[in-house]
Amino acid sequence: MTGETTANLVWHSTTVTKEDRQQRAGHKSCVIWFTGLSGAGKSTLANAVEYELHQRGLASYVLDGDNIRLGLNRGLGFGAEDRKENIRRIGEVAKLFVDAGVITLTAFISPFQEDRELARSLVADGEFVEVYIKCSLEECERRDVKGLYQKARAGEISQFTGISSPYEEPAAPELVIESGELSVEESVQTVLDYLKARGII
Ligand code: ADX
Repeated sequence: MTGETTANLVWHSTTVTKEDRQQRAGHKSCVIWFTGLSGAGKSTLANAVEYELHQRGLASYVLDGDNIRLGLNRGLGFGAEDRKENIRRIGEVAKLFVDAGVITLTAFISPFQEDRELARSLVADGEFVEVYIKCSLEECERRDVKGLYQKARAGEISQFTGISSPYEEPAAPELVIESGELSVEESVQTVLDYLKARGII
């Protein structure tokens, strides 16, 4: 975004604030940012956590990699610049959802530390819960839920994360979940316990 395009714009504060919305919802809002290799279990866990939040009557929403790339971010590819733009937009959307008082769960590979840090910087301290879904490339490739690793190995998909494009492990995530070690139920509980300990829910 260049300076020129934003030069004559003025930020307007809303009459109803984030705090007003959180008060009505009865809980705080935040971003639960899942990151990890394709097939590590980000979407599975994000959806399982959301199910529990929803059952408890809390406001929640999942932003998922494939879904967002089919809609809002259609047209973005998998080169470093497009991935950066993908994550920048998701960071901005997540910020809006947090402002709307919603517990927002994002499930994107988000392979670059710098891009995740940008997403973190968009929300207030304590509102960004980075969850690294740790799973070895070997295990993700063994699962190959979408058959994409096989295609990547065959050279049919270029710049595939873990094969021909890097994944930078988070330096200081709030949580690390080893999806090969824990059951989905145990992983969900780990996230819920963290949210409780932080007074978010
Ligand atoms: S990110 O790197 O920009 O964060 P994102 O999570 O949105 O990626 O999209 C990843 C999903 O796109 C994967 O789960 C997979 O289904 C699909 N995909 C298609 N091509 C690639 C590729 N080259 N690298 C990684 N994922 C890909």
